[in-house]
Amino acid sequence: MSNVMNDLCRDSHPGMKERQLAIGQVLIEALPYIRQFEGKTFVIKYGGAAMIDDVLKNAFAQNVTLLRKVGINVVVVHGGGNAITNTADSMGLHTTFVHGKRVTDRKMIDVVQMTLAGKVNQDIVRLISGHGAKAVGVSGLDARTIQAEPCTEAAHLGLVGEVASVNTEYLDLLCQAKLIPVIAPIGFDNEGNIYNINADDAASGIAIALKAEKLIYVSDVEGVHCGDRILKSVCKSEAADLIEQGIISGGMIPKSLSAYRTLDAGVGKVHLIDGRFVHSLLLEIFTNAGVGTQFVSEKESQ
Ligand SMILES: Nc1ncnc2c1ncn2[C@@H]1O[C@H](COP(=O)(O)OP(=O)(O)OP(=O)(O)O)[C@@H](O)[C@H]1O
Ligand SMILES: [Mg+2]
Repeated sequence: MSNVMNDLCRDSHPGMKERQLAIGQVLIEALPYIRQFEGKTFVIKYGGAAMIDDVLKNAFAQNVTLLRKVGINVVVVHGGGNAITNTADSMGLHTTFVHGKRVTDRKMIDVVQMTLAGKVNQDIVRLISGHGAKAVGVSGLDARTIQAEPCTEAAHLGLVGEVASVNTEYLDLLCQAKLIPVIAPIGFDNEGNIYNINADDAASGIAIALKAEKLIYVSDVEGVHCGDRILKSVCKSEAADLIEQGIISGGMIPKSLSAYRTLDAGVGKVHLIDGRFVHSLLLEIFTNAGVGTQFVSEKESQ
């Protein structure tokens, strides 16, 4: 038991009975969700600050482990924006983004491959495995997990790809063995060209292919904001307006667009949550507390 739980359950603690009851209630409130989600697949896109801060990294790894342990098939797709930029800087390579996607030439794809599929991926695997789940690092190149094709903006972006197909058999096999695939978003095409794939696009393609129950983006914002308001939900036409007005910009553009692609393809729930808030993942999944922003189809928002 954690120190907090120990303290709360100690007999001499003032208000002990009430607090014990509250803890019991919180735990039991998760039961319907655990029953509902057992055996279902959740794709979790891991990015932003939750990948940098040690406390948050650890909490994310714990959360993911708990999800796996209650029978949810967890598939993690990670970004690594900062790490790639830092490695590129140290090699004297300049980084440019267009509409939130990294311009990727031949030198940059080497940096992306070694940073994402190497250091970043394996650090996440180590952390999750340290909490008792068994995570497996999967480069999108492994077993052709992600077959890629040039993205529509490739003329400006270079070696930036989209998901053409996903090796779902391989990912299903890992999930059936109760392992947690941790996927680095790169892929190759029929000619053997390797592509950098925006991690949100990769997570979307994988969620669609696996017919996931939910896609959750863990990022470094409270949700989609419009001025100083955090939107509880945002539909496709609202998002298009916000992009047009420049209110949704940078990395939030590919995130929003991939969210609607995912919904259109039949994945029921797509959420953006704040990875800077410890345990936001558990709150989103196991409680009714509305954390972050839910991307919804036009019809649902009316
Ligand atoms: N309207 C908006 N609401 C919220 N965030 C926004 C908005 N417009 C732009 N952003 C930016 O989008 C960023 C999130 O996208 P970003 O690509 O930087 O992170 P990520 O996708 O979580 O991580 P990674 O790209 O490393 O996988 C936020 O940090 C914020 O600066
Ligand atoms: Mg991003």
